[in-house]
Amino acid sequence: MKQGGSDAAKRAAGEAAAETVEDGTVVGLGTGSTAAHAIRAIGRRVDAGLDAVGVPTSFQSRELARENGIPLADLDEVSVDVAIDGADEVAGGDLVKGGGAAHAREKVVDASADRFLVVADPSKETEALSYPVPVEVLPAARSTVAERIEALGGDPDLRRAERKDGPVVTDNGNLVLDCAFGEIADPGSLATALSTVPGVVEHGLFVGLADAVYVGSEDGVTVHE
Ligand code: 5RP
Repeated sequence: MKQGGSDAAKRAAGEAAAETVEDGTVVGLGTGSTAAHAIRAIGRRVDAGLDAVGVPTSFQSRELARENGIPLADLDEVSVDVAIDGADEVAGGDLVKGGGAAHAREKVVDASADRFLVVADPSKETEALSYPVPVEVLPAARSTVAERIEALGGDPDLRRAERKDGPVVTDNGNLVLDCAFGEIADPGSLATALSTVPGVVEHGLFVGLADAVYVGSEDGVTVHE
């Protein structure tokens, strides 16, 4: 994932989005370092009396929410009022997500929310998406999916674990192909094409799902609706 942003900028974005969570609501809890600031801030508000329930998007966000005292529910028990999640790249309302290999559950939770708030630092903003698209694949379909992605003009690369010998395995037990397409002229068409490849569980193109983007900086937060 892009690492250019400062932690202060991520914190500003995450905390500003967390401030919008209303009493009596269900919140989708995103994954990554920016969403983590929102989770910690919601935890502090719960500690101070806010009535909110969280729906985690990953093992990582579930653990952080537990540590911060946020009551949790599964998506089949509640409906999500607002989801707060990070992104690897943001172009208007379109995103690339999945730097944390959590994009399958993130997409289910974020897309189900009445409002989906993206939290980001300025290094994530771009005119056109070009970040390699994470594609979660069934392990048995790794090479057939890779061939289909090459036919779509992409360059698939199996994501490997940084500190272990072997591939990254998602919370769902699958593999991730990071697929470079260069500048993505039509994210909607590519998203549809990727979704139709047999063996693809989910890809990290989030097209037209965001309701607002909170971009933090050392000086404050800009909100793009
Ligand atoms: C995880 C994600 C993250 O939201 C994305 O990678 C951004 O992470 P960070 O806020 O740490 O830069 O999509 O799958």
